[in-house]
Amino acid sequence: MTLTLTTAGESHGPALVAIVGGLPAGLRLDRDAIAADLHRRRQGYGRSPRQKLEEDELDVLAGLRHGLTLGTPLALVIANRDHANWTWGMSPWPPTGEQSGKGSSPVTLPRPGHADLAGTLKFGHDDVRNALERASARQTAVHVAAGTVAKTLLAEIGVSVSGRPVEIGGADTEAGWKDATDAARSDRDTLGGVVEVIADGVPPGLGSYADKPDRLDARLAAALMGIQAVKGVEIGEGFALARMRGSAAHDEIEPDRGRLTNRAGGIEGGITNGEPVVVRAAMKPLPTLMRPLRSVDLATGEPGEALVERSDVQAVEALAVVAEAAVAWELARAARDKFGGDALADFAGAHAAYLERIAWPRTP
Ligand SMILES: Cc1cc2nc3c(=O)[nH]c(=O)nc-3n(C[C@H](O)[C@H](O)[C@H](O)COP(=O)(O)O)c2cc1C
Repeated sequence: MTLTLTTAGESHGPALVAIVGGLPAGLRLDRDAIAADLHRRRQGYGRSPRQKLEEDELDVLAGLRHGLTLGTPLALVIANRDHANWTWGMSPWPPTGEQSGKGSSPVTLPRPGHADLAGTLKFGHDDVRNALERASARQTAVHVAAGTVAKTLLAEIGVSVSGRPVEIGGADTEAGWKDATDAARSDRDTLGGVVEVIADGVPPGLGSYADKPDRLDARLAAALMGIQAVKGVEIGEGFALARMRGSAAHDEIEPDRGRLTNRAGGIEGGITNGEPVVVRAAMKPLPTLMRPLRSVDLATGEPGEALVERSDVQAVEALAVVAEAAVAWELARAARDKFGGDALADFAGAHAAYLERIAWPRTP
């Protein structure tokens, strides 16, 4: 029994869609918790004002009855409110009526740092929009909704997951983040940063060393690198470990308390070791600049300036929410792999029986 997630949807198309498979029956989902995470994803000091004003609303089309999962595929939909301005430009069928609204003229000036050029060449498009619409981070909204579902499942076995920014534009205090963001905004430039996600209450034994795809560290790295603009991932002390001696790097074991330190970030040999799981992800500066970078006009071959479209100065606070969802998803998937069960009680019961068997850490 494993969790599966399939998503679809363009940034300005009618809606974003996700199908979640492999949930046990009887899990109570909280509408407000999903709404709160969708709201958090839109916030942050570097976000455009419009981004912060609009809300994403989730509809559930299948797999849920009276708030409880049925053990069948859960179908989630988030309408793109902005689609109203793009009905001609993003019409799934050949548009009828007069050419009007946003997206009705082709984009031919790819933005450096986006999928625009490579995606247009690869798929043979003549309008860059056909690549950028799906490559955009707009799709992270349904990943966040699926992440809230994953967090709800994890809560049943006492696991909590939380993400936060730790660095924005090279600054590591909240006042510094704001100053750096203000400065970049007035220069019409963009910033990146670093986020950290910590999962508490994780039992030892999620993941495995048997093969590369089983390793939880590999899964977490793939899940985080799968988020737009993430260019680096570290687990525990990560890159700093490379500069330490073994005697200073590893977490010594005490029979009754577990570990005295957690430099490994809760994972050894691809398996959780019972300590908090700690991961960090590095985000590059956003590639859409209000002061556009040099590009080429794909229609004429002439030099030009890259497309300018409504965009954020930085989205590191939003990334913290998206990364939290990605980590929750991978932990929930590993927990489903380990504890299985058709009904929620089977899943929670297998977890309780397992904790009893391992009896770790040993209490004196
Ligand atoms: C939450 C979030 C919000 C983002 N917002 C923007 C944005 O407003 N403007 C932009 O150019 N890129 C934004 N990005 C980054 C791009 O989607 C990403 O850089 C681009 O798709 C290219 O992919 P890559 O950076 O992974 O190579 C955002 C990414 C995330 C995770």
